[in-house]
Amino acid sequence: MPVNIAIVSSEIVPFAKTGGLADVAGALGKYLSLHNCDVRLFTPMYDVTSRGGIEFHPVEFLEDIEISFGGESIPFSVETATLPGSETEVYFIDSPGLYDRGKIYTDDGDEYLRFALLSRAVLESCQRMGWAPDVIHCNDWQSALIPLYLRTLYAWDTLFADTKTILTIHNLAYQGAFRSSIVDHLGFGENHSFLHQEDLRSGVFNYMKHGVMYANAISTVSETYAREIQTPEYGEGMQDMLRHRSDALFGIVNGVDYDEWNPEDDPLIPFHYNPEDLEGKGENKKNLLERLELPYNPDVPVFGIVSRLVYQKGFDLFYNIMEPFLRHVDFRLCVLGSGAEEYEQFFQTLNDRYPEKVCFYGGYSNELAHLIEAGSDIFLMPSRYEPCGLNQIYSLKYGTIPIVRQTGGLADTVQHFNPATGEGNGFVFEHFTSQGLAWAIEQALQAWEDRDQWDQLIQNAMSANWSWERQVEKYLELYEWVL
Ligand code: ADP
Ligand code: GLC
Repeated sequence: MPVNIAIVSSEIVPFAKTGGLADVAGALGKYLSLHNCDVRLFTPMYDVTSRGGIEFHPVEFLEDIEISFGGESIPFSVETATLPGSETEVYFIDSPGLYDRGKIYTDDGDEYLRFALLSRAVLESCQRMGWAPDVIHCNDWQSALIPLYLRTLYAWDTLFADTKTILTIHNLAYQGAFRSSIVDHLGFGENHSFLHQEDLRSGVFNYMKHGVMYANAISTVSETYAREIQTPEYGEGMQDMLRHRSDALFGIVNGVDYDEWNPEDDPLIPFHYNPEDLEGKGENKKNLLERLELPYNPDVPVFGIVSRLVYQKGFDLFYNIMEPFLRHVDFRLCVLGSGAEEYEQFFQTLNDRYPEKVCFYGGYSNELAHLIEAGSDIFLMPSRYEPCGLNQIYSLKYGTIPIVRQTGGLADTVQHFNPATGEGNGFVFEHFTSQGLAWAIEQALQAWEDRDQWDQLIQNAMSANWSWERQVEKYLELYEWVL
């Protein structure tokens, strides 16, 4: 049975990306279409959307459509392009007044409207295409209003009579919580009874909550995170609500697009390698250090970091321990990332104080991200919480041994190495403390000193398979469940 699936995401690789959501949305679009599904992706057309080398076409019957938001009329048009590496069509909601802001997300007063438009424009486009999605797969708060819109403003339309909705939570810390005075503007008019009453009374309207209330199923991006978000520690205030919906709450670990992330044929790294022939890994290490102007020594381990530099990622655990390590142990540290000034400053200061050991590259570079994965020996990801995390999974494939905290998707993909049995593919610490992280780093340094142990670790890591071919099957099961 062919299934019509609409995937709605505020970022999609290779068009617009701030983090893993973009990778996941792009991969779902690509791999679902191999399964006899009619998959259509929907996303905003930002001024920062990359158009490089891809043909875009306006959709004739989706031009200058006006949607009324509490009396204010907002226009949009739709352009399409084919998702590279697939035959899947991506529909770009073009509304320059809302989306041309020089960045994907903003703190502007109309942020709520930017993504309410996305949600409604998807439904209005389906209506005009005469296309009834079996499943609308929403991602994060930016499309979490779709299930509620289907119950209210669009409930009259029989086109959607059999449409089911799924909300995937990629990060519960971002919920789209706004002041409740926006609800009339969102067009809910006489449908106030559908809204979260307690929140309304306290003057709040929360997009993610309404997604959790009305989606037919909820998923998140690892099994551990699906459990964690039902607890006060990780639930960001939504734990009770999520527990209430636990029968419809699923965890599916993200896949990796090995067409993009595979050291055997990655076009963004200078030397290719595989588990049987690791010579290229050493060459990449040399190349990485040359590029970052750090001295190369094959016996000295290289630690890599590629990350958004934000609270979630736990880099404050390094504050007390990194300098003592740098003074007493010989290693290199290559950091690629940008984000909060506090963390940027921290890594910049390390770079300035230990220029022979540390290089901080502040900014965004996909090419350098690939080279750090290939050229490092150890990858650091001490997250406070991590719904899934992709970089530790890339690291496994590149034989770069991850040091992670036991949380979310990190816990589901990395197992602590046991030198006695030779099992495990990384180093895992449990409690969010500097001592915990220091312990894991010491364990890794010990294993590094024993060539046989390290070779075993590399083999274990590189044999992990988190391909989208496999993970997409789990989404298909979820679609079946919801239908
Ligand atoms: P999150 O989505 O929380 O940022 P993930 O590990 O799921 O974390 O995904 C991060 C994605 O963004 C990865 O594909 C990673 O390579 C990429 N990335 C993060 N920061 C940078 C950067 N500074 N330069 C290039 N790629 C980056
Ligand atoms: C979020 C999470 C990250 C996850 C990504 C894709 O950004 O922080 O852990 O891998 O979404 O699902």
